[in-house]
Amino acid sequence: MAEPFLIGEAMTGGYGAVDILHSCTIAVEPGEIAVIVGPNGAGKSTAMKAVFGMLKLRQGHVRLAGEDITALTPQARVRKGMGFVPQTHNIFTGMTVEENLEMGAFIRDDDAIAETMEQVYALFPILKQKRYQKAGELSGGQRQQVAVGRALMTRPKVLMLDEPTAGVSPIVMDELFDRIIEIARTGLSILMVEQNARQALAIADKGYVLVQGQNRYTDTGKALLADPDVRRSFLGG
Ligand SMILES: Nc1ncnc2c1ncn2[C@@H]1O[C@H](COP(=O)(O)OP(=O)(O)OP(=O)(O)O)[C@@H](O)[C@H]1O
Ligand SMILES: [Mg+2]
Repeated sequence: MAEPFLIGEAMTGGYGAVDILHSCTIAVEPGEIAVIVGPNGAGKSTAMKAVFGMLKLRQGHVRLAGEDITALTPQARVRKGMGFVPQTHNIFTGMTVEENLEMGAFIRDDDAIAETMEQVYALFPILKQKRYQKAGELSGGQRQQVAVGRALMTRPKVLMLDEPTAGVSPIVMDELFDRIIEIARTGLSILMVEQNARQALAIADKGYVLVQGQNRYTDTGKALLADPDVRRSFLGG
């Protein structure tokens, strides 16, 4: 099989001396949505940090478009085309929506930033309405839109989202998932951690069930949703 576009392969590592990930592998192709699910504390966020370069790996590699980027800093990975929205603290609450988007473009030195901002506003029209409002005054769902929009400002090839729908209502979740599908259709790779496992797997080309830092099940989203063992153990029946 051909090399995946982005792969964290056999990643082992953790915080200090304790390994959290044990030979964990996550991969995603262009235009594809890959979803990581699993219990609290399974190491989902840790796996995302490892792929983004925020965690030193004891073993394993991260490759993007065939290039080994294991040794690169997160900022260098952003330059290579990776965007990451962390689970928490993913916006500047004291800044306006527009300032948040501008900050997102920090690595760019071209003059098409305003154009990208218009694309973000087209994707999330409410953000345009609230562009001069402090991000901290927005609703949970709107804040997540700011966070996703901010990551899009670097024009990434891969968008990594750690629980983009955390704390939002089911309707807002559906809307966010629709926007994420729309982003993937433009050819970006989406790698996403989700607590709303059923709904996320329903839109996933590929799903990973992580347990205790290891890959427990890997298949298409559809196949995982249909698997009785996965359903019973991880999807509430
Ligand atoms: N900064 C840290 N320092 C030390 N241990 C940490 C740190 N962050 C996470 N851990 C530990 O690593 C393990 C995995 O945590 P992680 O945040 O990756 O899980 P998760 O699957 O994302 O969970 P959740 O669904 O609650 O977000 C947990 O045991 C956690 O206590
Ligand atoms: Mg997490």
